[in-house]
Amino acid sequence: MKTKILNILKNSADYISGESISKQLGISRAGVWKNINKLKSEGYKIDSVTNKGYKIISAPKLLSADGIQAGLKTEFIGKNIHFYLETDSTNTQSKLNSDSPDGSLFVTECQKGGKGRLGRAWTSPSGIGIWFTLLLKPNLTPPQVPMITLIAGLAVCRSICKLGLDARIKWPNDIVIGSKKVCGILTEMSAEMDRVNYVVCGIGINANTESFSEELQVKATSLMLEKGQKIDRCALLQDILYEFEQCYTEFLKNGFSSFKSEYKKYCVTLNRTVSIIQNNQSTVAEAIDITDDGELIVKIDGETKVVSSGEVSVRGLYGYI
Ligand code: BTN
Repeated sequence: MKTKILNILKNSADYISGESISKQLGISRAGVWKNINKLKSEGYKIDSVTNKGYKIISAPKLLSADGIQAGLKTEFIGKNIHFYLETDSTNTQSKLNSDSPDGSLFVTECQKGGKGRLGRAWTSPSGIGIWFTLLLKPNLTPPQVPMITLIAGLAVCRSICKLGLDARIKWPNDIVIGSKKVCGILTEMSAEMDRVNYVVCGIGINANTESFSEELQVKATSLMLEKGQKIDRCALLQDILYEFEQCYTEFLKNGFSSFKSEYKKYCVTLNRTVSIIQNNQSTVAEAIDITDDGELIVKIDGETKVVSSGEVSVRGLYGYI
């Protein structure tokens, strides 16, 4: 329905009334309005004027493999690009194409089955986000892999800060601005007992989202909402790939500890009372430090414990952070 409305708007030189669209498509005017809002949330600029109707002003500028390649400053990250206008999930695609070279980039405009951590879905509408996955083939053991996620979070945080925004990390790897999430990272791997075959590091950034559903708006934001202007998604992606390569190369040489102090500087979880949720059980703890391997050191009832990122979810006691 949304696509049909988009086609009608594209074929109308002037404003077209909601009534006329509803008659053409045999749906209610509320249905038209709902779909117009969906299109707006996907980055379409649609003017609506009382007694005149709707007019499309501009369509979202799409990402492309050529656009990303042009001006990319990396040695191997993102040099091989798989671009999809629409796909299920870039993590899934990268796993299906795991014979691609180390550092391959899988990027899409729209995910129909975007995956979040702990089995959640990740909403990935067209034209407004940065949804991508890096296929990596590091010489690491399985327990070292979660550190790649922390490194990825740091790289994204660095790039977003360059836009003049105060991005922070909610341990282990959510990027937040203020108290709301702007980016999530899902790392998956294929491994034997003692060696990793490959890692897929999927990153989702709410770049130019204009509005979120009622449920999400309390805990999610976008770069555009925070900055008050549209973000150049291609330039940001190129910079993240560059920052990721810098961090990842250093990490493979010298481990996470070289980044520990920078990570701690950005980490909003430290010195807070948090709730650690694991296997549906929640424990209240004080987050006090980060280990050399990126685990969270907490105090529970006066006892110090180390929490690794794996299947754990950390929430602030009085809100998302
Ligand atoms: C989370 O915070 O729950 C992680 C979200 C990860 C979303 C990204 S979008 C690109 C990649 N493909 C997916 O299906 N998920 C990741």
